[in-house]
Amino acid sequence: MADIAILGSGGFGLSLAVMCLRAGHKVTVWSKFQDEIDTINRTGSLKAKLPGVKIPKEIRLTTDISCVKDKDLVIVGIPTSFIRGVCIEAAPYVSKNSIILNTAKGLENNTLKTMSVVMRECFPDNTIAILTGPSHAEELARGIPTTVVVASENREASNYVQEILSNQTFRVYVNDDVIGCEIGGALKNVIALAAGVIDGLGMGDNTKAALMTRGIKEIRTLGIAMGAKSETFAGLSGIGDLIVTCCSMHSRNRRAGILIGKGVAPDEAVEQVGTVEGYVCTQNAYDLAKKLGVELPITEQLYKLLFEGEKPYEALKNLMGRPVKNETEDQFLVRHEF
Ligand SMILES: NC(=O)c1ccc[n+]([C@@H]2O[C@H](COP(=O)([O-])OP(=O)(O)OC[C@H]3O[C@@H](n4cnc5c(N)ncnc54)[C@H](O)[C@@H]3O)[C@@H](O)[C@H]2O)c1
Repeated sequence: MADIAILGSGGFGLSLAVMCLRAGHKVTVWSKFQDEIDTINRTGSLKAKLPGVKIPKEIRLTTDISCVKDKDLVIVGIPTSFIRGVCIEAAPYVSKNSIILNTAKGLENNTLKTMSVVMRECFPDNTIAILTGPSHAEELARGIPTTVVVASENREASNYVQEILSNQTFRVYVNDDVIGCEIGGALKNVIALAAGVIDGLGMGDNTKAALMTRGIKEIRTLGIAMGAKSETFAGLSGIGDLIVTCCSMHSRNRRAGILIGKGVAPDEAVEQVGTVEGYVCTQNAYDLAKKLGVELPITEQLYKLLFEGEKPYEALKNLMGRPVKNETEDQFLVRHEF
């Protein structure tokens, strides 16, 4: 039995808590917000995010961040924008031999750093790992078979996470390509937003397939420029996560995109849906592509649509009207030190 703390009592944090408890571990969940904890304690559920899921009383809920002390594993389930703040708060209490496992998918605003880099800065003495892949909280919490990837520069830590979290309904693969897994997880939110726009515009399956296929090419282009391995993008953290996000109504990125495609202003759509990490990630990926000198056509059109007032149909027209080329043309695949 492992002793696990989870930071964040949102949909994903709680779904992991339910899964870890089911796997026989001791689980504590921290939230910054007392009202979130009160709601879960009062109703025994988190209806808005995990409908139909009972949150067992054996999961300890607290607002005391010192709960991370002496844990085998500290899982971070907070949206990207708040990660650094929460990690700085937790750092004084975290024991040196605890593994820190990030689950947030995105890049840090302004610095454009990946989450593992942010965490390495916050927890310099700890081993950092990331968990990513196709894993909707709503399904994970209900015990629907799910596969994910754990990646870390420390293979022993990956093996440990794989061993303690894998169970009958949750299968964990190990991948040593940390940057590839992180870029796959972050950028699929951008492509899922664009996929929602395509759906909102009422386009067909052909258009969606085109977007997803060229989307994974684009994710791979950015990943390789940052030092990732090409084959990672054919795996769970690449095409796997892209499929689940672009095709499901569980995806808040896709749902926001659908509203935008139907004519709702982008900021209003994001407000209506809630946590839409693809929105800020589009800006970050656009900036990162410029910095690295790589071309990301879908991200660029989505950026113009979200932040410069371009209309959805115009963005689609611009993508379709680009100069024709070879499907496997890789002239932009230059590796950079990152
Ligand atoms: N929902 C999913 O299916 C899913 C799957 C895989 C990964 N993830 C990742 O997990 C992360 C969390 O997603 P989620 O769906 O649980 O989000 P959510 O919106 O359901 O929950 C976010 C939680 O973060 C905490 N939080 C919010 N603002 C905070 C602040 N300022 N300071 C401290 N804590 C704050 C709160 O406890 C809140 O409940 C995201 O980065 C997401 O990419 C989510």
